[in-house]
Amino acid sequence: MNDRLVQAAPVDDDVQYEAGLRPRSLDDYIGQDRVRANLQVSIAAARGRKEALDHVLLYGPPGLGKTTLAYVIGNEMGVPVRATSGPVIEKPGDLAAMLTNLQEHEVLFIDEIHRMAPVIEEILYPGMEDYELDIVIGSGPGARSVKVPLQKFTLIGATTRAGLLSAPLRARFGITHRLDFYEDADITEIVRRSARILGVELDEDAAGELSRRSRGTPRIANRLLRRVRDFAEVRADGHVTAGVAEAALKLLEVDDHGFDEVDRRLLRTIIDKFGGGPVGVNTIAAAINEEKDAIEDIYEPFLIQAGFLDRTPRGRVATARAYEYFGLTAPGRDTRLW
Ligand code: ADE
Repeated sequence: MNDRLVQAAPVDDDVQYEAGLRPRSLDDYIGQDRVRANLQVSIAAARGRKEALDHVLLYGPPGLGKTTLAYVIGNEMGVPVRATSGPVIEKPGDLAAMLTNLQEHEVLFIDEIHRMAPVIEEILYPGMEDYELDIVIGSGPGARSVKVPLQKFTLIGATTRAGLLSAPLRARFGITHRLDFYEDADITEIVRRSARILGVELDEDAAGELSRRSRGTPRIANRLLRRVRDFAEVRADGHVTAGVAEAALKLLEVDDHGFDEVDRRLLRTIIDKFGGGPVGVNTIAAAINEEKDAIEDIYEPFLIQAGFLDRTPRGRVATARAYEYFGLTAPGRDTRLW
């Protein structure tokens, strides 16, 4: 991963700042209204029945608040959240230890759950379904399996794409929600809330300016806010006006759409080298020297939702809007007859 300012994956000081900015309750959580309303019902029902909440799978592009939501769920259920992530669980015993340590109704949050090794994933199946572990003792003909009961717990899994999960694992989540890019108005409200918490004086149109360039992603909005605050303190009197925000963002080379050099290179490569497409994602990855997974999970979703890229069965296609962005005319799209 490189160090793009508008990348959605967490970088350096994001983690520390996000902890302070994170909403703690569903009421404080801005946007994602459908997900919020559904979770509110699921949580109230589980609490009413004094049961553990069903296992929850959250998927969607990075930076949209999957981890935040996991902690909000824990808080609303009134239980602690134990957090880990797929790639850091090395041995089946590591996961078994976490599961056996969980108290009643507690939450185990596994980020990047699609990156769990298959032998570890299999431990989860009886754990999620029957709240028990199948532990094999010994090996060879004398091996036997013992069942260890677990407390009734809630697993919350997060992944960038639900399709990356194996079917048996996906099937064991009773509650599945996709997080979408945020509406501009919601990002504006998030920026205003963060500015309030950080004590930044931020004008209304400056908040709008920041949110428009944040790719519908709270993590990026909060990061841009911190960089703009730096600029305002050093080059102005600390007060973020629209003019200050614009000057700061110009210096940071974040353009009107929140695009940066990687987005531009991706679109430009499709246009210049592949006649606008269709072109396969593997070919694009090789041409721009980025990981295929990063293209599919991080760059593409936003370019597609912003209308600059189309995903077709034969590959990726740059849209007329992408051509316009570079001051070009899309080829062969003129359907006038004369
Ligand atoms: N900070 C990050 N995501 C947020 C959200 N959805 N609501 C409020 N604050 C946030």
